Amino acid sequence: MSSIQDEIKQLKEEKNAIILAHNYQPKEIQDIADFLGDSLELCIKASEIEDKDLVVFCGVDFMAETAYILNRDKKIVIPDINAECPMAHMLPEEELLKAKEEHPDAGVILYVNSIAEAKQHADTLCTSANAVKITESLPHDKILFGPDNNLGAHVSEKIDKEIIPTPKGGHCYVHKLFHVEDVELKREEYPNAIIICHPECNIDVQEACDEVLSTGGMLRFIAESDAEEFVIGTEIDMITRLDSEIPGKKLYPMLEGAICETMKLHTLEKVRDALKNEEPVITLPDEVADKSLKAVKHMLEASK
Ligand code: 13P
Ligand code: SF4
Repeated sequence: MSSIQDEIKQLKEEKNAIILAHNYQPKEIQDIADFLGDSLELCIKASEIEDKDLVVFCGVDFMAETAYILNRDKKIVIPDINAECPMAHMLPEEELLKAKEEHPDAGVILYVNSIAEAKQHADTLCTSANAVKITESLPHDKILFGPDNNLGAHVSEKIDKEIIPTPKGGHCYVHKLFHVEDVELKREEYPNAIIICHPECNIDVQEACDEVLSTGGMLRFIAESDAEEFVIGTEIDMITRLDSEIPGKKLYPMLEGAICETMKLHTLEKVRDALKNEEPVITLPDEVADKSLKAVKHMLEASK
């Protein structure tokens, strides 16, 4: 009997499909993915897959939606339709429109972790990898930024522009789990380690760490560093990727319990079924997809 991995491989060929996966996917999904990356790398990859008919997106809703916005002629499927990023839903369209009215002279940058209905009203988008660069790329001195308050605070510390967080703000419940005390404890436990966290962590946690990086940034930084030990302040399966790609380093999680539950909804069985049945599909109303494409394209261009 063939293994589920063989079934997936065969279906992928039959359907001319590609499997894209985020760095927070569990090991078994990382192992069968054709491409693994952070939000920006996945977005760039999604913009370059002209030769495929079907995309299986192992990540959360906003990532798969962005792949759809860039590939209206293809089918985008997500193995488990409930894989939502709660932060992306913290900025409803009406709230952004109201904030835009209050700050008519501000440029509008939305974190890709936002719903497409909000994205369509943004001047551009950013990810944790390019937020500073994108903010610099707009001519405005004032920037309306949402939904992640912590990423906004990170940008605000790096550049000389006024960052106005969207009114109710937003956050990642996983990165909210990290506290300064966790950083201090790890520093005591591993005095030779470089402590890295994600910019979705609270600003005091970011300030207590040695480096603040996107997940793709963590991979590059550790691969290029001469240091041997690192404390990783992000979702736990980032270490799975780091361990498999950069052997020989000692990697310690800042918190074992930092788990993005919805990222773990995808399983090998659901990937196989998504390939076989070509569902659940990700789609958006044409107008929303058309309008958001402008912001996605601006981001891709400005991050070059
Ligand atoms: P990265 O783009 O750094 O992978 O972050 C995505 C995300 O959702 C982090 O929680
Ligand atoms: Fe969303 Fe946080 Fe999960 Fe990233 S880790 S997908 S921001 S809930």
